Amino acid sequence: MKVPYVDIAAQFADNRAVREAIEEVLRSGQFVLGPAVERFEADFAALCGVKHALGVANGTDAIFLALKALGVGEGDEVITVPNTFLATVGAIATSGAAPRLVDVADDYNLNPELLVSAITSRTKAILPVHLTGNPARMDEINAIAKARGLFVIEDAAQAVDAAIGERKSGSLGDIGAFSLHPLKNLNTCGDGGVITTDSDDLFFKLSLWRNHGLKDRNEAKFFAFNSRLDSIKAAVAALQIPGISEVTEKRNRFARIYDEGLSGLAPKVIIPPGREGVRRAFHTYVVQVEDREGLIGYLAEKNIGTKIHYPIPVHLMEAGRSLGYRRGDFPVAESQAERILSLPVHQHLQEEQIRYVIDAIYRHYGR
Ligand SMILES: Cc1ncc(COP(=O)(O)O)c(C=O)c1O
Repeated sequence: MKVPYVDIAAQFADNRAVREAIEEVLRSGQFVLGPAVERFEADFAALCGVKHALGVANGTDAIFLALKALGVGEGDEVITVPNTFLATVGAIATSGAAPRLVDVADDYNLNPELLVSAITSRTKAILPVHLTGNPARMDEINAIAKARGLFVIEDAAQAVDAAIGERKSGSLGDIGAFSLHPLKNLNTCGDGGVITTDSDDLFFKLSLWRNHGLKDRNEAKFFAFNSRLDSIKAAVAALQIPGISEVTEKRNRFARIYDEGLSGLAPKVIIPPGREGVRRAFHTYVVQVEDREGLIGYLAEKNIGTKIHYPIPVHLMEAGRSLGYRRGDFPVAESQAERILSLPVHQHLQEEQIRYVIDAIYRHYGR
């Protein structure tokens, strides 16, 4: 048996609806923004339960433009975590603001108990990441932000269709930033991103920041960027919206099978923690393991793909040196980085493949 870590081609192979959607855009002659993007934006806003969604070029730009629309820049600080895809921290740094990092808790997300001591008079925004598809502790984070007049941007790149109670990711802060990269649970045939907000004012500002600051065809309010979403990519992503809850359910069912199958291996294998009232939307299924290299090698021999998200915390990367942190500053994130392993959890797998992975992990530790 083979268990590939991902199978991106599977979702586009022999997919007539995708071909038809692309042909419709080709016939329309409208390749950038336009009706296909507007339809996608309306459907994505409805999915997240927010008033506005705005298609952009990628998830990194979604964060960057959110910061710009909130007026964040030189002299400001934005708080986030060290264990994320580096784009979260990179978007803050390229906005001109200084990234301030806070350690995570055992759910891999920003630890709200450490948040207050990281806030300074320069802090403008908090940027929690819903890592793995598990929403950060937004009630606590929002309460701290509100009491101090700070903005909250969700990095929801990995968390489309996740929720806290009835509130979906993308509706849990002032602005939500999503990626439509092919590896994401809701994706497109290339780079893409979406920004969500309930605020008319922020939506207007974001629209300008996405498109050269243009308020109409001929007049710009300020100099900005081109981060428009291509119509073909919007049309392809829109096709996935009606089926996203089925994708989430399938991934979550696989995660439950892993949970049940692997919980007996603690403390050699530690399953991902959940929270009451929170709907995770498993983007990655991350366990912490002993003897990670040995396990990766053994699973590879059994044709099982694995990945590490992420092996190097951002402050320990070469790019992160400018942030002024050292090894030891974020002990939880650093220790997790040495033990985490992502197991295959994508929707193109079958239950027997998940059971095969569990069985292989038992065999490895039983050897
Ligand atoms: C947590 C997180 N933030 C930001 C991004 C950036 O998204 P993109 O690759 O679309 O720029 C990603 C995805 O790669 C991500 O996983």
